[in-house]
Amino acid sequence: MNDKEISSAVVKRLPRYYRYLGELMEKDVVRISSKELSEKMKVTASQIRQDLNNFGGFGQQGYGYNVEYLYTEIGKILGLDRHYKVIIVGAGNLGQALANYTDFEKRGFRVVGIFDVNPRLIGMTIRGIEVRIVDELETFVKENGVDIAALTLPKTKAPQIGSDLVKWGVRAIWNFAPTDLNLPDDVIVENVHLAESLMRVSYNLRNRERELEQEQVLAGMEEK
Ligand code: NAI
Repeated sequence: MNDKEISSAVVKRLPRYYRYLGELMEKDVVRISSKELSEKMKVTASQIRQDLNNFGGFGQQGYGYNVEYLYTEIGKILGLDRHYKVIIVGAGNLGQALANYTDFEKRGFRVVGIFDVNPRLIGMTIRGIEVRIVDELETFVKENGVDIAALTLPKTKAPQIGSDLVKWGVRAIWNFAPTDLNLPDDVIVENVHLAESLMRVSYNLRNRERELEQEQVLAGMEEK
């Protein structure tokens, strides 16, 4: 099966498997049964088997999974056996937070440039990386073979910068600006919405409250 046929639901679960297997490796766990893996990850064993069968299995009957092997293979599927050059466009709160986060580097994503328009930020360094004026973006992208651009600038500016970056050779956009980017189909665009995630928290919290309210009503009826 080629990657195109793998559902986006599976692709969404793979980073979680990868993260979890990484934690097991840190604890020197060598192998794990699909039952244990499923209990720990709160995904059914058959779901795990089905997901991994998309890529040819990796498990062995009666043995379970070799943690390091599975971690390495999932890493390859996710493209984490490569190194990526990342730039951040918009060096405000979010851009600086991303630039300061060292764990991306451990996964092979190296921030090579940070850009902004604000003269007060130009020349400042974040983890040794200088914030450059956005006018230098074109030359920088063309000379440095940038793989991924994180857009952490105002939403009114993101579509134009996104199009320019693609024109100059960037193939993947990690878009934090809350706006749609109109880019060619062969460009990878991953939109990140923390607010949507927070709304799911609110939904689940509200749902839990409703359940408790119902339980209280039922308990009250039983008492009568
Ligand atoms: P901020 O105002 O602190 O930073 C924005 C930066 O972009 C500023 O430093 C500004 O000078 C710079 N900028 C403006 N025009 C530019 C241009 N043409 N080229 C390069 N840089 C430019 O804002 P913050 O809080 O860092 O948010 C940044 C973006 O991320 C906003 O669009 C915001 O809505 C979005 N955001 C998205 C979240 C998500 O979950 N997706 C969460 C938080 C913010």
